[in-house]
Amino acid sequence: MKKRVIIDTDPGLDDAVAILFALASGLFDVVGLTTVAGNIGLERTTKNAAGLLAVAGRADIPVFSGAEKALLRDNIDAIVVHGDDGLRGITLPPALAPSRSGAVAWLAETLRTEPSGSIDILALGPLTNIAQLINQYPDAADRIGHLIAMGGTVLEPGNAGPSSEFNFASDPEAVALVLHSGIRTTLVPLDVTRRVRLDTDYVEALRGTSVGDTTADLLFAYLQDDRRSRPLHDPCVMLLAAAPELFGVDFMRLSVNLGDDVDAGALIRRETGSPVNVAMRVDVPAVLKLLASGFR
Ligand code: BDR
Ligand code: CA
Repeated sequence: MKKRVIIDTDPGLDDAVAILFALASGLFDVVGLTTVAGNIGLERTTKNAAGLLAVAGRADIPVFSGAEKALLRDNIDAIVVHGDDGLRGITLPPALAPSRSGAVAWLAETLRTEPSGSIDILALGPLTNIAQLINQYPDAADRIGHLIAMGGTVLEPGNAGPSSEFNFASDPEAVALVLHSGIRTTLVPLDVTRRVRLDTDYVEALRGTSVGDTTADLLFAYLQDDRRSRPLHDPCVMLLAAAPELFGVDFMRLSVNLGDDVDAGALIRRETGSPVNVAMRVDVPAVLKLLASGFR
């Protein structure tokens, strides 16, 4: 049976690949996309999300824009990785349908309407929208089946600060709200995503369909700057949702650094932390095979 999911996202090249896999693989029933400021500003992440749906010809899936700003902090961005359009110049077709605002209210309405626990949220950006849902509509947030979020790091060095990862550094207070919420949550940190890398032969082999061709273009753009490989962060969320048996998940108690220092958003293991599942190991060849199979 297909997994019913809402994708909360800030595309972003790796978000884009994750979304196209979700749309093309036939493994997911994508109920909607909600967007958040992260890699780049909200207007652009929303435009990119709608363009990705157009690549897959999915006018039936709605896009709702959400938080323009982190809960309490100034935004950071990742333009240096994703370019000043979020997709390093890869142009997508125009949106098939207009995007709407009000992601958080739409999330609440959808979760209240559908059977409790039937929708999972795949979170690929800063957790601001999810935190606002928890704050404003706690009854609806309680109806999330499983929240799988790319973010944080446990043993690996950070990519925003010495021990902090970009999504969690973008909105540490949102991470704290999610960890305290009691929502069934699995984190997919850098410890796993840094293992999942691809090379140019792999990317070339994805071509052959319009979605596969666009995915290859996006991945070549992601591999620019002479990098032979880059971590496929956000697609790991989809891969874990589709095939949890390919990951090793540990139970941990975590809190988050809410300070104003270079490591804001870093995860801290401590006994008083919130209980959460964290993916720490991955069968790399198997997940790369699964990812490629989604574009055939
Ligand atoms: C995360 O940060 C963003 O740049 C990526 O899209 C991914 O969600 C990796 O740290
Ligand atoms: Ca992202």
